[in-house]
Amino acid sequence: MSSISPKDRIIFALDVSSVNEAARFTALLKDHVGMFKVGLELFVAAGPAIIKAVRENGGRGIFLDLKFHDIPETVKGAMRSASTLGADLVTVHTSDGQAMMKAAVEAAGASRVLGVTVLTSLSADAFPEAGIDKNFTPASLVLHRAKSAKEAGCAGIVCSGQEARAIRDEYGPDFLIVTPGVRLADDAIGDQKRVVTPFEAVKNGADYIVVGRPIRKAADPIEAAKRIAGEIEKAVR
Ligand code: C5P
Repeated sequence: MSSISPKDRIIFALDVSSVNEAARFTALLKDHVGMFKVGLELFVAAGPAIIKAVRENGGRGIFLDLKFHDIPETVKGAMRSASTLGADLVTVHTSDGQAMMKAAVEAAGASRVLGVTVLTSLSADAFPEAGIDKNFTPASLVLHRAKSAKEAGCAGIVCSGQEARAIRDEYGPDFLIVTPGVRLADDAIGDQKRVVTPFEAVKNGADYIVVGRPIRKAADPIEAAKRIAGEIEKAVR
């Protein structure tokens, strides 16, 4: 994975609500990030045509982050459709066991399936209310779910940069690690909880970092992307 250039390790989260805004950010950032992430907000607003629109505006890699979570047959159908759209990466939840993930992997075609382990907006205090066994910590739950994702045939997982090192050590260089919850030292944290800097995420073994607000809300998004790429470069050096 070290052959990926620093900027290509950045996945920009297109968390906007219209095709026009998405097209504007794609055209602006296409030479400064490696992939564009279409998530729930944009996909629900713009529909599948958004994938074509991102490509037409210069976006090469597409991460379709719809976090599938349903019975295996439904997930299989959804994944088949996602693959037909040409998404490079697609997410499925890991929290309900391997059958759902196996169904996703079976229907993925050329798309790579990532298992979402524990949302980066969740900290240990929220576990009791979410019905998660009190013996788990975020780190141990991520490891538990990563094992399940690996066994189900997922190409990798989504976790926070705080857990990336343990996953990398356990599963070696070929298991993809994608980490959201990334902030530069002076960025607002917002609703994220398990946050690290781009330097820490990549140093800890992340292949790709997902960045939304720190670029989208910056006065100069290109400059923010360049600063992030600069941190990544230091981490891989
Ligand atoms: O704006 P911010 O950088 O916090 O955006 C993070 C992006 O990563 C959002 O699009 C969010 O849906 C996504 N994400 C996350 N935590 C996960 C998986 C995806 O924050 N575990």
